[in-house]
Amino acid sequence: MTILYHNSSQIIQIEDQGRLYKRGSEMSEMPILDKGWMLVENGKIIDLGSGKAPGCERYDESIDLQGKLVLPAFVDSHTHLVYAANREDEFAMRLSGKSYAEIAAAGGGILNSARKLAEAPEEALLHGAYHRLQDLMRMGTGALEIKSGYGLSTESELKMLRIIRQLREKSGLDIKSTFLGAHAIPEKFKGDQEGYVNLVIDEMLPAVAEESLADYVDVFCEKGYFDLDQSLRILEAAKAYGLSAKVHVNQFNSLGAIEAMVDLGALSLDHLEVMSPKEISYLADSQTIATALPGCSLFLDIPYAPGRALIDEGGILALATDFNPGSAPGGNMALMMSLACTQMKLSTEEALVAATLNGAAAIEMSDEIGSLERGKWANFITLPPGFSLASIPYHFGHNLIMDLYLKGEKKL
Ligand code: NIG
Ligand code: FE
Repeated sequence: MTILYHNSSQIIQIEDQGRLYKRGSEMSEMPILDKGWMLVENGKIIDLGSGKAPGCERYDESIDLQGKLVLPAFVDSHTHLVYAANREDEFAMRLSGKSYAEIAAAGGGILNSARKLAEAPEEALLHGAYHRLQDLMRMGTGALEIKSGYGLSTESELKMLRIIRQLREKSGLDIKSTFLGAHAIPEKFKGDQEGYVNLVIDEMLPAVAEESLADYVDVFCEKGYFDLDQSLRILEAAKAYGLSAKVHVNQFNSLGAIEAMVDLGALSLDHLEVMSPKEISYLADSQTIATALPGCSLFLDIPYAPGRALIDEGGILALATDFNPGSAPGGNMALMMSLACTQMKLSTEEALVAATLNGAAAIEMSDEIGSLERGKWANFITLPPGFSLASIPYHFGHNLIMDLYLKGEKKL
């Protein structure tokens, strides 16, 4: 099946030389095909170009894009999409002056979500997450990562990961899953942190691996959660099962994790709201992807990750939503781009690279998606005629996405 898509205003390719990510100043390079056309065979791009499209009669189908702007679908490389209930009550508490940490210390936060998840039937969890997934697709997300971490017991962690697997099957979307058993110390293990770390390593990890339920491992490395030593032990143990690390670090405090986790070969380090100049340089010099989550900074009113400095020092920066019921209940990647531009001082080009190609690299899929190049899946979104790349971050909070095509097939 060969389909020609033609008559776009522009095709924003992101990359046209097969690079699997862009770092530093490369993030400003933005190959664009004016009046672009794209030839897709069995879901993959086999050719694309600018100007007059090759004769339409030679293809099974020819789709007139009617002057719309084409760009790769967003890749959201950090979400907590599976959960049982929203936490608006905690939001109200924060508005009346309580901090995220105070709410967590009083048994709210992640533990609140874990209590609710343990009680929730699988069907309800799947239904809720699927509904949110469709919302994300409407906002232009074509691939994503989803974490466990509201289970905090072997049974509930496995339940979450199985739901992620079902979401993948039901939606047909590219979804990578991350085991985040070490998201918080559950109530049962209060005062016995080591006991819980051992449970994660000795019981949960083997069970997750046994069913091949996770692609990655994550730990919330933070004061009051898991210290550096515990985090490293979990990540090392997971490595033996072939799980690379994508880690929550430096959200509220720096525990000195960045250097150690880069050295461990982490795929991505996420959050990074609190970073010393030394940590910025170390991460920027490495192959580890720095993933900024500006929605969390907005919602918790905490600093933004130093995206500008990370790029200026040559780093690989990705943007993701962190969609979760506590610190970031929003999954709009275009809004992440707005925040990246206005708050982190990225250019529109840098923000788009971070939300597409580099996000795809952060889930090890940038050989297949994240840019519009020959050999990659035709995963793209369109904007109405008259809009440009800059329109996306400019119209903050709007949803300008008209269509979502995945593997050449129109989903929305
Ligand atoms: O990425 N910081 C740790 N985990 C999530 C929040 C989890 C929650 O509050 O439910 C985050 O911000
Ligand atoms: Fe997170």
